[in-house]
Amino acid sequence: MKAFFTDKLLSWNQLHNTRTMPWKGIRDPYRIWLSEIILQQTRVEQGLPYYERFITAYPTVKDLAAAPDEEVFRHWQGLGYYARCKNMLAAARQIVSEFNGRFPDTFEQIQSLKGIGPYTAAAIASFAFNLPHAVLDGNVFRILARYFGITTPTDSTAGKKQFAALAQELLAPGQSAIYNQAIMDFGAVMCRPQQPACPQCPLAAKCVALQQQTVAQLPVKSKK
Ligand code: ADE
Repeated sequence: MKAFFTDKLLSWNQLHNTRTMPWKGIRDPYRIWLSEIILQQTRVEQGLPYYERFITAYPTVKDLAAAPDEEVFRHWQGLGYYARCKNMLAAARQIVSEFNGRFPDTFEQIQSLKGIGPYTAAAIASFAFNLPHAVLDGNVFRILARYFGITTPTDSTAGKKQFAALAQELLAPGQSAIYNQAIMDFGAVMCRPQQPACPQCPLAAKCVALQQQTVAQLPVKSKK
């Protein structure tokens, strides 16, 4: 069931995934970082022009670190959640002072940067350095809850542990960059929150929620 999941996801990605985004397939950790921070609270279409303008203004992490705070905030204007931008500036300066201006290339060092939690660290570690860290975002919770029929609340301590362990087991060895991008795209275009594309889904034959007709009830959240 697990091997089927990973195999089908990767072949779907290779044959049917037409989603394009400027940060897809790139290896520059700085650009990947920026895209992930923007996408934390902003939709892809809304975030795109900000990403482009930010990269044009600050092509490297050193450029960002050297920029005046107020100027950087102006480039962020309209995105909101200014803590994201403040943290990015602090982290850029941390990279210059602690890592000699070179973006760190281990999961632990990446996670030590201001504003970078486990999700963003896994995204950067896998996309930029192909390190074997599975991303765990809303897409991954939803896909795994449905496919494996998991009813543990995703926001509970037990749920987080269970989903994290499972996500890590499913990760294709040596292909974490491709696999992590594939699962996010799959969540966005196939296993959507509403109106998922079950009739076209390559995982349908083994999807527990589909057999049990509980797709619309999963994933389960406990809080709020
Ligand atoms: N959301 C956050 N990061 C993403 C990515 N790399 N691709 C698609 N959606 C995302």
